[in-house]
Amino acid sequence: MKLNYQQSLKNFSEAFSLSKEETSKGKEYIPGGFSRRTFGYGPHAIFVDKGEAQYLHTIEGKKLLDLNNNFATNVLGHNHPAIINAIQETLPNGFSFGNPTNHELDLAKLICERIDSVEQVKFFCSASEACLSAVRIARGYTARKKIAKFEGGYHGFSDDLAISAHPNPNNFPGPDSNPKALPDSDGIPAYKSDNVIVLTQNDFESCEKVLRGNADEIACLIMELQTCAGGIVELDKNFVQKLRALTKELGILLIADETITLRANFKGLQSEYKIKPDLTVLGKMIGGGLPIGAVGGSKEVFRVIEENQVMISGTHHGHPLACAAGIACLKAMDENAYTRLNEMAATIKFELNTWAKESKYPFTVFGSFSVFAYAFTKELGQTINTHRDYWHKIDENSMGIYALEMATRGYYPVHRGQVGLTLPMTDEDVNGYIETTKEIISLIYA
Ligand SMILES: Cc1ncc(COP(=O)(O)O)c(C=O)c1O
Repeated sequence: MKLNYQQSLKNFSEAFSLSKEETSKGKEYIPGGFSRRTFGYGPHAIFVDKGEAQYLHTIEGKKLLDLNNNFATNVLGHNHPAIINAIQETLPNGFSFGNPTNHELDLAKLICERIDSVEQVKFFCSASEACLSAVRIARGYTARKKIAKFEGGYHGFSDDLAISAHPNPNNFPGPDSNPKALPDSDGIPAYKSDNVIVLTQNDFESCEKVLRGNADEIACLIMELQTCAGGIVELDKNFVQKLRALTKELGILLIADETITLRANFKGLQSEYKIKPDLTVLGKMIGGGLPIGAVGGSKEVFRVIEENQVMISGTHHGHPLACAAGIACLKAMDENAYTRLNEMAATIKFELNTWAKESKYPFTVFGSFSVFAYAFTKELGQTINTHRDYWHKIDENSMGIYALEMATRGYYPVHRGQVGLTLPMTDEDVNGYIETTKEIISLIYA
């Protein structure tokens, strides 16, 4: 039977009826029923009882293949023995000090050894904090005040950066090649967007014009090398390399936000793009599932921290448990682990794209590593090169049906079409994902 959105909603709510009840109960005590508003897709979130390697067990007793993995954080899946050991070994020694510990130092050393552009690292509690701090460092270092970023680029929820990450798709502000900066939320003062210059992905000509025209005021360009968090857009390597050269020429610091993309490559996606950013933001997997964020960069740029020109400090920065878990995670993520993850992603992309093309379904998988995206487009053969492209071209109804039906059938996807793989996933899991996707797509277009 052909699937339709209303029926899929009903299927979802029936399958996760206890979660629906918990969401309603939660609304009494937590605005919206749960703290992270992005959990919800469809009518309510799915409440989890426990995680087990590549799976989630929901409070209804259902087992789901976790293709969200906390928005790409848990690259090793849930409860990896190495991470649990690291936490258990650290715990009895205490876990909250007004002093540094060797865990922080060891994690910093590991990161510096891996990422060529990183000579030193400073830790935070989240990548939102790290992005905000990277911007403060850049402003301190350059004595300039403006931030350049892409429309659709998400770099955390701070007032400075939650600008034009999620612009209203029904009324994009400004022309496609020169978007207007707007706050993403009420409560962010409008003047914050005066300090933000918004660029268009994969359009070097317009980026160059705007960056050259405002160079004297721009402290930094902050970007993901493949936009993930605001909706996946693959950035052309040549485009990124040209931006690196241009920012260097103009004295603008390039901040690569590798919060998610670190899982693309042992040395970060920057090594594949063959660029050296001035600062690199990290988060998610470097804490092994515990809260963390970090900024890495050259000793030259970190001089402003060393000499106390730029002040940033927090009670839990360099938290020993998060650092210990992060060390265990990075050590488990050896070169073979990256190869396995990327191979699984390549198989899914190849199998589904070949099948969809042959079947003439307007469905594509894109992205270059173990966090990738799918899109149902309005027409066959449409490609997505910018954030606006995504919203102009996608078929939201089919996107919605697919996400709901996947969950109902045992696959927990991220809304907005993002999929993240984890190391414990087996070939059987991958095949199951491919076949279930085909089944749902065939029913959408039946
Ligand atoms: C690229 C990127 N930067 C920053 C952040 C903010 O990270 P956090 O949620 O740890 O504050 C995220 C979160 O999804 C992200 O994906």
